[in-house]
Amino acid sequence: MLPVRLDRQDPRSLGVQLAAEVRRLVLDGVLAPDDRMPATRPLAADLGVSRAVVEQAYDQLLAEGWVEARQGSGTWVAGGPAAGSRPRPRRRRPAPARDLVMLDAGTPWVDPRPAAVWRRAWREVSTATPPRGYDDARGLPELRALLAERLGRTRGLAVDADAVRLTGGTAAGLRHLLAVLPPGAVAFEDPGYRAAVATARAAGRAVRDLPALEPVTDLRGCAASYVTPAHQHPLGRVMPAADRLTLLATARRDRAVVVEDDYDSEFRYDVAPVPALASLDRGQVAYLGTASKVMPPSVRLGWLVVPDRLQDALDEHRALTHDAPPWPVQRAMVTLLRDGYVDAVVRAARRVYAERAPRVVAALSPYAELAGPVAGMYATWLLPHARAVRARAAAEEAGFRVNLLRDYCRTARLSGLLVGFGGPSDAELDRALEVLVDALAS
Ligand SMILES: Cc1ncc(COP(=O)(O)O)c(C=O)c1O
Repeated sequence: MLPVRLDRQDPRSLGVQLAAEVRRLVLDGVLAPDDRMPATRPLAADLGVSRAVVEQAYDQLLAEGWVEARQGSGTWVAGGPAAGSRPRPRRRRPAPARDLVMLDAGTPWVDPRPAAVWRRAWREVSTATPPRGYDDARGLPELRALLAERLGRTRGLAVDADAVRLTGGTAAGLRHLLAVLPPGAVAFEDPGYRAAVATARAAGRAVRDLPALEPVTDLRGCAASYVTPAHQHPLGRVMPAADRLTLLATARRDRAVVVEDDYDSEFRYDVAPVPALASLDRGQVAYLGTASKVMPPSVRLGWLVVPDRLQDALDEHRALTHDAPPWPVQRAMVTLLRDGYVDAVVRAARRVYAERAPRVVAALSPYAELAGPVAGMYATWLLPHARAVRARAAAEEAGFRVNLLRDYCRTARLSGLLVGFGGPSDAELDRALEVLVDALAS
């Protein structure tokens, strides 16, 4: 029957609730145009409501054009020309992502018991007075100072507060930067970070594909080259020193800016974190950092350090567009950095990842080949695409989301799975690995 939930405590009538649920199913693509709706009598019996409730909902949906009655053959989800200009939703898998346990590359481990300092940070926000107007678009000075100190200490990047700008995350930082770069394509690692590629395309930039693990020797026609040197996303490799120097020399010669996405560099557990590429040449590299690996990514905070020559144009653009992260988030981050929360999370999460990574490797290595070293919060496995698709489907059936390597490739022909281990609990990780092993072994 229909996967709908009706709540008798809800002040809305059951008919209104049912209509709302059907609308959601259509928008989510669970019900597609030309799907037949259940008849009113069995649906009412299934939901434990009177037939009048279902009729009321169907009448409403008919009036709004979500469904249509077809002579002698019941009620159907509206579709075809009769649906007018309403976009036709694509049919999706029935389980919405929000109900899945995320074993993707992007979900970090966060302490299930929020630390006292986390609560204090938000309490302080609630008692502080926000700026009355639009605040300094560069970001809060105390936060920029704390981040500058941290970048020097943990990433070998000697900058002062004046060079740091706050953003709403990595893609937001890239968007700001692209707004002030000269015309030209943006080169991206292939496979590479999808959100960044989408951001460049949305900014009207052509995208140039560069094989992810090869040295970059040609950036002619490119305004920028976007790289993940500390932990190639998604293949896992650290960019070798020789390739770093080649990339910088190429960028200098071809007048392109190197954009360094330093997303999870602190989470190494075999060797010390590799210093940022920007520490080798501040004049050629724009550095993007993010808080999304030390706190839930939904908080949305990042930072950006650009070559001096771009600074004024960047500041003007940000001030003009009011494109700075929300003041409460910045204010909370001041406390979280000042009182040691971020350092404590990094230490604790490193321990968690260092314990989980070998479990993932031990479980899956009989069935697939690691694409590169495991660091951060995910491992990438090479597998024939059909087997990867089957394993992903089995995981999804059991309530887990893993990602297909193919989805990160543009022209590259790699296939396999990305298995993250930051998002699940220990028990969930064990269960997900069992499911994947079963699927891969069969
Ligand atoms: C390659 C890469 N860069 C950056 C990020 C973080 O993005 P944001 O700062 O927008 O949350 C992620 C998150 O998964 C990522 O995979």
